[in-house]
Parts: sequence; C-alpha cells; structure tokens
Amino acid sequence: MKLKVSIIGASGYTGGELLRLLLFHPNVEVNQVTSESYTGKFVYKIHPNLRKTTMLKFTSANEMQPCDLLFLCLPHNRSQNKIDEYKNLAPKIIDLSADFRLKDANEYEKWYGHKHARPDLLNEFVYGIPELHREEMKKANYISSAGCNATASILGLYPLYKNNLVELDRTVIEVKVGSSEGGNKGNEGSHHPERANVVRSYQPTQHRHTAEMLQELSFGQKLTIHFSATAIDMVRGLLATCHVFLKNDLQEKDIWKVYRDAYGNEPFIRIVKESEGIYRYPEPKLLIGTNYCDIGFKKDEFSNRLVVISAIDNLMKGAAGQALQAFNLMNGFDERTGLEFPGLHPI
Ligand SMILES: NC(=O)c1ccc[n+]([C@@H]2O[C@H](COP(=O)([O-])OP(=O)(O)OC[C@H]3O[C@@H](n4cnc5c(N)ncnc54)[C@H](OP(=O)(O)O)[C@@H]3O)[C@@H](O)[C@H]2O)c1
Repeated sequence: MKLKVSIIGASGYTGGELLRLLLFHPNVEVNQVTSESYTGKFVYKIHPNLRKTTMLKFTSANEMQPCDLLFLCLPHNRSQNKIDEYKNLAPKIIDLSADFRLKDANEYEKWYGHKHARPDLLNEFVYGIPELHREEMKKANYISSAGCNATASILGLYPLYKNNLVELDRTVIEVKVGSSEGGNKGNEGSHHPERANVVRSYQPTQHRHTAEMLQELSFGQKLTIHFSATAIDMVRGLLATCHVFLKNDLQEKDIWKVYRDAYGNEPFIRIVKESEGIYRYPEPKLLIGTNYCDIGFKKDEFSNRLVVISAIDNLMKGAAGQALQAFNLMNGFDERTGLEFPGLHPI
C-alpha cells in the first residue's frame, strides 16, 4: 500500500531533502510539492540532484488536493496561521518548523517574542525526536519535528538527565553549524565573501532551540542550559560540544553503560569513542546525507566535567531524516524504511 504524501514548501532545503528520501520510499507516492516562487517549474530545476529521478512540477499551495499525509517545510510562524486549512487537506501532518514544538504557550511567547496563534493545538503535536517519543508517535496524527541544534544536544544529553546524573545548573553547550541551517534564502551574512572561511558567533545567548532542550531534558526539575551557536565554514552538518558536571564520581565505564542502555538498540544512534586513530569522536562530515546521530564523550580526569560530543547532518537527522523516521512510526512502517544507508568516505 502506498500513501499519498505532499510537501508544502518543497523548494527549500528541508523540502528538497525530504523529497530525495520520499521518492525512494517503497510505501510513498509523492502527490504534490508546492512552491510559490517556482510554480509550474520542474522540481529538478531547483533541486538538481533529483534530475532523472522525478518529473514532478511544483504547484501552488492554492491548488492543493487532499492527501494522506502532509509535510510542512515552511519558515517559522507560517503553519500556525494556516493549520486549519492543512488539517482539512490531510488527516496526518508533520511540521518541520518550530511552530508546534513547545507545549507551553508562555514559553513560546518568551522565546519567540509573540503570542502563539493556536495555543489550543500545542498539545496535539508530538515532539519529533523518535528516540524520546516513539510510542506516542505510533498513535499520533500530528508531529512537530525538532530543531536541528536541539536534536543533537538533546540526544547527546538525554541519558544523563534521564538518570539524574548531572548538576542541573551547569550545562554549557556550544554548537558549530553549517550554512544550510539558515535555509535557501540568502541574506547579507550568507553572501559568499562574508560567509566563506567564517567562525562567527551568531547566537552566543538566547538561542530559541534552548527552549526545546529545557522542555525535553528537565524531567520536572528546574534546569538551566547555557547554549551558544557558532557558524563555521561548512554547508551541512553540526557538532554539539556539551559540557556537564557529574553529581557523583562516575568512571567512563559507568558512562558507557548509561549510553549503551539508552541507545544500544537504537538504529540511528552510534556511540563513537575510540582510544586511537583520527576518528575518535563524532564528526559531522562523516554523517553527510545520513540519518545517524553519532555521540561520544570524555571525562575530564582533573574534575567531574564530562564532555559529550554529538554530531548530525542538520538536513537529515536534524530535519528530513528525523521527519521520515517519525513518518514511518506514525504509519506502522519499520522506522528504518528509506533511511538505511551509510555516509560517504572520503568526502
Ligand atoms: N535548514 C535546516 O537545517 C533546518 C533544520 C530543521 C528545521 N528547519 C526548519 O524547517 C523549515 C524550513 O527550513 P528550510 O531550511 O527548508 O527553509 P528554506 O530553504 O528557506 O525553505 C522554505 C520554503 O518555504 C517557502 N516559503 C518561504 N517563505 C514563505 C512564505 N512567506 N509563505 C509560504 N511559503 C514560504 C519557500 O518556497 P517558495 O518561496 O518557493 O514558496 C521554501 O520552499 C523552517 O521552519 C526551519 O526552521 C530547518
């Protein structure tokens, strides 16, 4: 059985990546893909990697027909204003924007600076990290995919917070990100001479993804996360370096056990920690195009600091891959369907 699936906002980077995956999914028929800027144009003209894989053309969102499931790949603050229209088109929706990630409307207003248009719907959406919300996803009609920086940080730290192993007010996370995180609309900062070779601290404090981390990691306790984001000279990928302080004198073998217990059976999480060689810790470059999240750690021998290193491809595990994994769970398919391939090496 094939599900009829459509994408709204398919000319963007996450929409294009989702299309790359959906076109090869055995249980999917891609029905319509929308773009207002490129209506009527062949998809491959905008996503040249899809040449000879599809002869689909972009349609306008005004011409949408009903389908089984709708992916929303729109900029922030679009889906919440049109959600009733989208609900009338499809019984199931996966939104890749930030609109329905936070459960608390007050937190949304605090971090996004305006009132949420549909606070009544926030609890209808399951937060989109499959490793944390698998069972809820199997019953869900609406899923809100997680932010890419939040995904890497949350997956890196989740086993520690779940087991109450770290101090609650001393978590420091620094994320280094590639340029595709900003989407396909250029601005002054993404102009090539200004963006190339950059190590630019673009959000040292108050990054909105912090709110998702607090929501998913606090487990009912008061938690503080000090988060900073830096743009580096990379197109895809992100690396989260997370500094936490252990409550007890745990050894590395104890930490190994915690991560193995949490993620040993996870198809898309790999613990990467080697004692020698050049690939000792996670590296985003090796994950390009894949749905893996690689997580490593190292305990500081002179203190109780644990450094957790987490890497993903922001457009895959941080967006389209995560969304497809959720799609599989939501529809009763093996969650690995359409996602089981390794990265490239060398790249
Ligand atoms: N990039 C990432 O790494 C990443 C990761 C996780 C989540 N996300 C989230 O995913 C969403 C999409 O991100 P993206 O990187 O794919 O963005 P993008 O490359 O800028 O694409 C956005 C899409 O939305 C359409 N669009 C733009 N402005 C619009 C408007 N005012 N009204 C309706 N449609 C509009 C654009 O197409 P047309 O103008 O052709 O219609 C385009 O297809 C965002 O909410 C982003 O926060 C992004």
